[in-house]
Amino acid sequence: MNKNKKKIEEILRVNHAGEYGAQIIYNSQIRFSKNNLLKKELKRISSEEKVHLEYFEQQILLSRTRPTIMQPLWKVGGTALGFVSSVLGEKYVHACTEAIESTIVDHYQEQVEYLKKKNVRSDLRKNIIKFCNEENQHKLRSRKKNDNQKGTFFFKLITKNITKLAIKISKKL
Ligand SMILES: [Fe+2]
Ligand SMILES: [Fe+2]
Repeated sequence: MNKNKKKIEEILRVNHAGEYGAQIIYNSQIRFSKNNLLKKELKRISSEEKVHLEYFEQQILLSRTRPTIMQPLWKVGGTALGFVSSVLGEKYVHACTEAIESTIVDHYQEQVEYLKKKNVRSDLRKNIIKFCNEENQHKLRSRKKNDNQKGTFFFKLITKNITKLAIKISKKL
């Protein structure tokens, strides 16, 4: 298989998996959070994430890319993460968003660089740039909301590393 094609399949697979995970996590937080204002905010973010997921769903179908086989695991893990952060409280919900979205922003930026360098799939690149800007907004907003970050350092570190590992796995599997 041509190297670019393989790499683009990886991009589509991992992004589809990531946006699927985002839906699971945000929806789990919406389900388990008790704070109505927070729920409203999470619903707004989730509706943006839904557009991302729908785009990558369409893309993997069009290119006949196999979705990740890890989807069932991401579903369980994402639900658990949403549940745990909600039970720990609003501070942790924001910490979770910040940790995940900042990892995703880096990851999307890497893809944008790659597509630009290879001068392929400008349509895909344009969409990833748009999504990346939205993820960055999610990150900045949660960071701003979470001015009292005390105690969330390790939670964020763990969440970040889980996200990175999930990205690594979803590219290949
Ligand atoms: Fe997203
Ligand atoms: Fe996001």
